[in-house]
Amino acid sequence: MTAEPLERSLDRPEQLAGPAPFPYPLPLVLRPARESDLPELRRLDEEVFQEVAYPGFLLRQLYDIYAEHFLVLDDGEGRLRGYVLAATTALRRDSWILGLCVTHDRRRHGLGRELMVEVLARLRDAGIEQVRLTVEPSNRAAILLYRSLGFLPEEPDGGLRRDYFGPGMDRQVMRLELGRGAG
Ligand SMILES: CC(C)(COP(=O)(O)OP(=O)(O)OC[C@H]1O[C@@H](n2cnc3c(N)ncnc32)[C@H](O)[C@@H]1OP(=O)(O)O)[C@@H](O)C(=O)NCCC(=O)NCCS
Repeated sequence: MTAEPLERSLDRPEQLAGPAPFPYPLPLVLRPARESDLPELRRLDEEVFQEVAYPGFLLRQLYDIYAEHFLVLDDGEGRLRGYVLAATTALRRDSWILGLCVTHDRRRHGLGRELMVEVLARLRDAGIEQVRLTVEPSNRAAILLYRSLGFLPEEPDGGLRRDYFGPGMDRQVMRLELGRGAG
């Protein structure tokens, strides 16, 4: 099934959990990524993830394959302030969240949650039954967000996978059965 077209304004004062940044910005728009976003997506990914950002060529190919589940937060002034990217497999009906971020200046306003809730809804509509992700074990903010959406560590070992991305790069694997937890 094709996901519904999406272009939704966020960041309205009543949606903000905390004080709005000053000067008051334009509302962010949550929408699917476009090919023309790729340079800005790369910049954003490097700003947030630095040495573990996706190389440009990989980001390009991830977009080519998974554009349907690649959503961005557009500030209307040429900058993207966040994105979420989910990869899906057709046969096993499962999915991995490959990227989620919100820029520093826009955190703690419910935007990470908006991105996740939207992509999970679209995955569910596409018939996906199980969503997995990896997170740095010390990344408390992300783990709390994922847990609040119903993700649980994938056993064994409380989801901990030593050297998952190479020496010293441990990760926790978390899993959500769609239909049981997330909005
Ligand atoms: C993780 C991230 C996307 C969260 O985005 P955000 O817009 O700030 O998150 P939200 O405002 O939607 O918060 C949702 C929930 O996450 C948790 N959370 C988010 N930031 C938190 C923090 N600094 N401390 C504790 N909990 C936090 C809370 O449970 C929060 O719910 P609450 O507001 O009801 O308490 C953002 O911090 C980020 O981009 N981090 C860097 C990139 C990253 O780590 N990505 C995940 C890789 S696996």
